[in-house]
Amino acid sequence: MKFGKVAVLMGGSSAEREISLMSGNGVLKALRSKGVDAHAFDPSQRDLSELRRDKFERCFVALHGRGGEDGTLQGALETMGMPYTGSGVLGSAIGMDKWRTKMVWLANGLPTPRYRILSAADDWTAVARELGLPLIVKPANEGSTLGLTKVADASQLPAAYELAARKYRDTALAESFIDGPEYTASILGETALPLIRIVAPQGNYDYQNKYFTDDTKYLCPCGLPAQQEAELQALALRAFKLVGCSGWGRIDLMLDAAGRPWLLEVNTSPGMTGHSLVPMAARVVGISYEDLCMKILEGAHVG
Ligand SMILES: Nc1ncnc2c1ncn2[C@@H]1O[C@H](COP(=O)(O)OP(=O)(O)O)[C@@H](O)[C@H]1O
Ligand SMILES: [Mg+2]
Repeated sequence: MKFGKVAVLMGGSSAEREISLMSGNGVLKALRSKGVDAHAFDPSQRDLSELRRDKFERCFVALHGRGGEDGTLQGALETMGMPYTGSGVLGSAIGMDKWRTKMVWLANGLPTPRYRILSAADDWTAVARELGLPLIVKPANEGSTLGLTKVADASQLPAAYELAARKYRDTALAESFIDGPEYTASILGETALPLIRIVAPQGNYDYQNKYFTDDTKYLCPCGLPAQQEAELQALALRAFKLVGCSGWGRIDLMLDAAGRPWLLEVNTSPGMTGHSLVPMAARVVGISYEDLCMKILEGAHVG
């Protein structure tokens, strides 16, 4: 068999465990339907050394969040000489950190919203003046909009800071608010797939709605003129590579009122359920979910 025995790494112990199990089970079924000798492997229940003992030859990483998407697991697999899918140690680690990701982009002249790192001693009025209102406060290392606040008035900044910094024990990142449509660009190998436009009800800014109701609409094709979409795809691919990412992933971005793009973040191990965004974009260019899983698996690497 072409790939030998394949472990689909799923579950894990991060906050996104449940989504990872859904992603992993989808991938597992798809790979098996293509004749791959694939097996589920949950690193929160088994020691990684069992990968070697049980003669696995490569890993499909379907873990999300800390411990699976942040470079630590990638480092362990690397040390074992076990080929794995997606970004390596460096890209995974930087990608997990929105602050460092922004520094890489800014150093290369790529557009990402203006920001500053908050600390308890900050002058909140000065922060609001510097970034403008409304502004966004979010933890630098969390995902799924956890701990994110849209701040309309400087008086709300302390609570937003507390949430991001204390509740999520994280670095609190304050960012200029981008008032425009939101997109995500899926990266597969050396190409960016068609953009998906994400339309949350009541504008883009109701995070509760975005994640806890089914009312969010996902449009692909995204409705932008072809030329503009191609430029954004090229920007996303460049942004992905500058951070050191490879294999596959997703770049979240927004356009402002003037139509200028702003990069928000990179996701190095995005959702892979049947309803997830990368599979949606792949379908639009004729790549089935099963074929997508195979292409990602083909990209597995060490180093
Ligand atoms: N600077 C910003 N301006 C406007 N909306 C934002 C901004 N940053 C984040 N958002 C909104 O919050 C969502 C989550 O932010 P994001 O940076 O992608 O982090 P994550 O997806 O890891 O929670 C985005 O999809 C977008 O809707
Ligand atoms: Mg995001």
